[in-house]
Amino acid sequence: MNLRNKRVILGVTGSISAYKAVDLASQLMRAGACVDVVMTECAQRFIQPLTFQSITGRQVYTDMFTNDPGITLEQMQLAREADIVVVAPATANFVAKLAGGLADDFLSVLILATRAPLVIAPAMTSAMYENPQTQENLGRLRRRGVVEVPPEWGYLMGGYRGRGRLAANETIVDTLRQVLGRNGELSRVKIVVTAGGTREPVDRVHFLGSYAAGKMGFALAREARDQGADVTLIHTPTNLMPPVGVKQVEVNTAQEMLAAVRKALEGAGVLIMAADVADYRPARVETDKIREGEKASLALVRNPDILMEVKEPVVKVGFATESSNFKDAAALKLSRKGLDLIVARQLEGPYGEDADSSQVSIIAKDGSVTDLPLQSIERIAREVLRKVSVLLKPYPR
Ligand code: CTP
Repeated sequence: MNLRNKRVILGVTGSISAYKAVDLASQLMRAGACVDVVMTECAQRFIQPLTFQSITGRQVYTDMFTNDPGITLEQMQLAREADIVVVAPATANFVAKLAGGLADDFLSVLILATRAPLVIAPAMTSAMYENPQTQENLGRLRRRGVVEVPPEWGYLMGGYRGRGRLAANETIVDTLRQVLGRNGELSRVKIVVTAGGTREPVDRVHFLGSYAAGKMGFALAREARDQGADVTLIHTPTNLMPPVGVKQVEVNTAQEMLAAVRKALEGAGVLIMAADVADYRPARVETDKIREGEKASLALVRNPDILMEVKEPVVKVGFATESSNFKDAAALKLSRKGLDLIVARQLEGPYGEDADSSQVSIIAKDGSVTDLPLQSIERIAREVLRKVSVLLKPYPR
């Protein structure tokens, strides 16, 4: 969301992965950004400016020298108006050029001329990436505040495998969100978020679990990060993409989650418990696998209630999915657990994984109820954080 209406300059340099920048431009457009693409001469050997122009609907800048004074002026205005500059892919040569402060093509001129933050996503062979010269150049750039989206391990040019592959576009977009949000509404606020469903072991192979995949908690962590918060995300095993710039702790059981929450809460102002925590766990974990005919029943013991165990945070937020009278049931839970807010939802359908959208009501300690329409979990996360931010107002940061 914090990419909406932002002026993003996408610099594309001459790597085989230049074609991936087309999808990056498209993802940025879908996020609501205004994207201006600047290509180096080498990049144009791999891909045509027309491809980017078709995606962004805007002129693509390819040349430092033009006979049209209007265009020259427009080019220099780009440097002033940019909110953020991203170079993806950034070749070893371009990284060296930036580290040396050279300005011999339009993209490097523009980067020297802008005060906007710079993000680079290198792409090259692993030998080039690991070369001490490249590492030294990247180190110099990082010390100057340039943010690197490190390359990934995978297939490279010519079928070789190694580190050097351009980072996933989703990771690059997530990094831009993080950088744009650095001085946001929640900067200097430490927030702990839990996500997923705990796994309580039965034996060496099986566990008692939940269908929750953790989408709500991950969305909350991302949104809080987008607003500049210092976020720790404590989650159960999941395939969801890790949010860039968020500290992550993976746990399995409710007891592990409690220990991780306690540790992460040191100095934190907010705890948001979006995880589905098992109320009970097997009284005994079998050391081997339970086999057919051996057992027909499972003795359970109560798990600690994490929200009730921790007293430290200034603001505590819970989630509740209830089968009947969901607002009343959630309001009772809010007072029983000493919460500031509870996000209540009616349980619908037989079972299933977390949905991408939901209809919730947010109930506050003062009894006020905000009924939200059916909307994406990202929008719900933003609404929850808006309320958290209001509750934090009286406290110094
Ligand atoms: N929760 C917790 N520790 C637990 C169980 C739940 O901190 N052992 C938190 C959840 O993360 C959630 C809130 O409490 O934010 C409400 O969870 P829910 O499962 O609805 O509450 P329970 O206390 O388990 O109540 P119920 O009897 O309805 O299961």
